[in-house]
Amino acid sequence: MNRLALLDSDSLALPPIEEIVLDEVTIAARVKELGAEITRDFKGCELTVVGILKGAQVFASELVRKISLPTTLEFMSISRYQRRPAAKEVSIIHDLEQDIAGRHVLIVEDIVDTGLTLNYLESVLRKRNPASISICSLLDRPALRLAEIPMRYVGFNVNEEFLIGYGLDYRDRFRDLPFIATMAL
Ligand code: IMP
Ligand code: MG
Repeated sequence: MNRLALLDSDSLALPPIEEIVLDEVTIAARVKELGAEITRDFKGCELTVVGILKGAQVFASELVRKISLPTTLEFMSISRYQRRPAAKEVSIIHDLEQDIAGRHVLIVEDIVDTGLTLNYLESVLRKRNPASISICSLLDRPALRLAEIPMRYVGFNVNEEFLIGYGLDYRDRFRDLPFIATMAL
């Protein structure tokens, strides 16, 4: 079964977890490094951190605790049309609460895959005239990229295997796992 068929499947059976690819300690160490790097790069600035729901909720919450700057944590939720995986349309389900005009914005994502989600989101946020927009993704899967995304901070590069845990889901499950794993499909 290919990945899109899997995401679109009506089957309720949950495949078992296969192999841990990033354990809790490895993730925590990298999140700390990213936080330190962001702190250095934005020294003297205030940041609006925009986590993309639901996947990036865990990462964004951990990352802000490793950034030693005045930050505002916001979340945004965007939907691809699930029943039409080939469609490129996205819509905003939950928007930011605050105006980002003149603010430094850090978009935080769990994984950038085709890049279509972030491509849309970045263009929406750019129209609101922020001082800057940077992207931080815990995981990057460049092999499947369709839209070019300027990735400023990347935790780990990953291959094409479907991943769960640390915010990443399969049918909205497994987000609570403290590690990132593949599934036995
Ligand atoms: P894209 O970059 O627009 O293709 O979409 C990225 C989004 O797809 C991420 O925010 C995830 O929610 C989801 N996604 C992509 N790959 C995976 C995966 O391996 N496991 C779980 N979710 C994934
Ligand atoms: Mg997501």
